[in-house]
Amino acid sequence: MERTLITDVIANVAPQTVVTVAGWVRTVRTSKGGFSFLAVNDGSCMANLQIVADGKLANYDSEITHLTAGCSVVVTGTLVESPAKGQRVELQADSVQVLGLADAETFPIQPKRHTFEFLRTQAHLRVRTNTFGAVARVRNAISFAIHEFFQQRNFLYVNTPIITASDCEGAGEMFRVTTLDPTSPGPAGEPVDYSQDFFGRPTYLTVSGQLEGETYACGLGNIYTFGPTFRAENSNTPRHLAEFWMVEPEMAFCDLTDNADLAEDFLKHIFTAALERCPADMEFFNERIDKTVLATLEHIVRGPFERITYTKAIELLEAADCKWDFPPHWGVDLQTEHERFLTEQTFNKPVIITDYPSSIKPFYMRLSDDGKTVAAMDVLMPKIGEIIGGAQREERLDVLDARMTASGMELEDYWWFRDLRKYGTVPHAGFGLGLERTVQFVTGMANIRDVIPYPRTPRSADF
Ligand code: 4AD
Ligand code: MG
Repeated sequence: MERTLITDVIANVAPQTVVTVAGWVRTVRTSKGGFSFLAVNDGSCMANLQIVADGKLANYDSEITHLTAGCSVVVTGTLVESPAKGQRVELQADSVQVLGLADAETFPIQPKRHTFEFLRTQAHLRVRTNTFGAVARVRNAISFAIHEFFQQRNFLYVNTPIITASDCEGAGEMFRVTTLDPTSPGPAGEPVDYSQDFFGRPTYLTVSGQLEGETYACGLGNIYTFGPTFRAENSNTPRHLAEFWMVEPEMAFCDLTDNADLAEDFLKHIFTAALERCPADMEFFNERIDKTVLATLEHIVRGPFERITYTKAIELLEAADCKWDFPPHWGVDLQTEHERFLTEQTFNKPVIITDYPSSIKPFYMRLSDDGKTVAAMDVLMPKIGEIIGGAQREERLDVLDARMTASGMELEDYWWFRDLRKYGTVPHAGFGLGLERTVQFVTGMANIRDVIPYPRTPRSADF
């Protein structure tokens, strides 16, 4: 079908041009004077196009006056300057073809405010609201900016496996992948025989593409992955999903400082892209969702991030006059309350925390000379807390083996990962950015379930 996107009609097309648009009716106003105003949205932008349908149209009484929110239409007409406030043009219809009606009694997305909780139960239709259309467009712009950032810097895009046998983060929070029939287990008391399973061994959905990403970086130099990851952590929070998208760059011949520099440039690139390419959507978020998002993003892209060590962070938190749910002290992981204190109260900007205790970080992070800390880094954002986790990797085989053994891992299972350290080992580093937390931060959306089309969380995998 020959049609012009409403985003183009509104911004670029000159009055008196004849255009065809197609979309879904948001609101209808029928005037006593014998014509109707339809606000039509096609998802290409936040704005609706106002259609003026004259009572003389052949199907005016039979169809147009029956239109309600949710109906789909194709409209051809002449664009005219609009007398109405807030819109440059409107479309004087020559024909309004009704493709599909929407029963006004049952259509769930009525033109009024719905709660996000309700809209989650209508995830297949919520994309037809202003908020979810805007989230989808901003998420798209961010994904494009991610590829753009790395492609401009000669990082190669690598696809790592979704099904894996390794537990990268060592947290044991993995979904099992199996074709064994759960209704007919082996003889009573016997352990499940995974040699009979599809892959002849236990397999899982990946929690991270990092380990495989490292192998490609140690041969290609700079790579990045961008794909779905899965965590069976039973966290019912506004910042956790069981299925989320992660971007994982990995750089050979790099240390922790290079890694932090890349992370900072990367986030600034993403934020700038969202501001520049989705101005109307960002304006909407700033007005309707969180009145601070624009000012916060503009402030963040202008200045440097703070960088402090974990030890320094603990000192600051211990010295703070605060009532903590989890009192901070050296050796324990930072909680959301600590992350928010540092980013919102102490520094009022993103904070990169480095050099965490080895005891609270995974086996692959490089052990520092003090023997107690590893070359880890987390990037913390105001409100969201951790948005990036990364590290310089342990490139020394003997040190890696000692940490794997101490973590209870079987060295043979990771023979290929260890081979990197046997054959031409190099210092290398990388990190993982959670896409949904990034979209949350940019849009100000409070719940991570509202920035992915179909959220997967404990006890919920609808649609
Ligand atoms: O800190 P994480 O666990 O790091 C890794 O997986 C490393 N292997 C990455 C690397 O070095 N290549 O996760 C990275 C990021 C987090 O900072 C967070 O933004 C996001 O992934 N993330 C989640 N997002 C939504 N729901 C969850 N359950 C998440 N877990 C992690
Ligand atoms: Mg982390």
